[in-house]
Amino acid sequence: MGTVGGGTFNVLQRNAAEIARRAGRGIDVAQIATRHPNPACNIGVTPTTDDVFEVVNNPEIDIVVELIGGYTLAKDVVMGAIANGKHVVTANKALIAVHGNEIFAAASEKGVMVAFEASVAGGIPIIKALREGLAANQIDWVAGIINGTGNFILTEMRDKGRTFEDVLAEAQALGYAEADPTFDVEGIDAAHKLTILASIAFGIPLQFDKAYTEGITKLTTADVNYAEALGYRIKHLGVARRTGDGVELRVHPTLIPADRLLANVNGVMNAVMVNGDAVGSTLYYGAGAGAEPTASAVVADIIDVVRTLTTDPNNRVPHLAFQADALSDLPV
Ligand code: HSE
Repeated sequence: MGTVGGGTFNVLQRNAAEIARRAGRGIDVAQIATRHPNPACNIGVTPTTDDVFEVVNNPEIDIVVELIGGYTLAKDVVMGAIANGKHVVTANKALIAVHGNEIFAAASEKGVMVAFEASVAGGIPIIKALREGLAANQIDWVAGIINGTGNFILTEMRDKGRTFEDVLAEAQALGYAEADPTFDVEGIDAAHKLTILASIAFGIPLQFDKAYTEGITKLTTADVNYAEALGYRIKHLGVARRTGDGVELRVHPTLIPADRLLANVNGVMNAVMVNGDAVGSTLYYGAGAGAEPTASAVVADIIDVVRTLTTDPNNRVPHLAFQADALSDLPV
């Protein structure tokens, strides 16, 4: 029941009737594992526990929604849920980027779904766009602003002359930043997300360790102002690009001409451009962090899983866009 857990609970309650019409049945929150109550939620009589493995082992539960974050406890929860035959919905980009290959293999073996739309770009349905909407294309590149905290910091430094530290503290208070904000400002969070996008775009295994990763901690207000004076904006981008002999993955600050679309994505907003050989360039824009934008993606995944179970349990959405036995060994 942290930021995203609270948002997920509230969206499920508030839109319950609409969600049931979409999913084909009502969705009940059977149990919540939490260390602290979330003041933004009125959980009523919903049972709670401070032992997350009670949820993992609860026979009443079909879908475990993991919103803990991190690689350790979250991994045990997700692997435990899969072992118990439960479907998993997660917003955890670190977990998917670093342990996704193992998690998807276990899920396939057990015949359960693992859905992770909320792991990249908050409320923007970029995973579904890449996996479904653009499935006809050979993807040439994916590039975007995929860390809301970093973009919020750079925007406030430019617009209001605020210091890096001051804006980061506000991003933490607003629930945008990771529990360890080093992940946001050192580019690690963006590299996690880029790893996931590249895997889906190019049909390659997840390879987080191959991404060139640079954050925004070395940027000063003077850098931001000089860029502005020269007609540019500094944006922290993640870029995954097909090259002559493989795929290139990199995250770093970039100078973008001030009149370009990506240069005008401000605050906590994210934007991802995808170029495919058939469709050309496409752009996806929306809130990249925060309780309800991220919950929007979590709940969409819950609905997807329920809809699949309700309508056609044998036609499950693949975890990644490519079949597991058809992944490419393109060098990264
Ligand atoms: N800390 C992340 C961000 C949260 O700021 O983008 C959403 O993934």
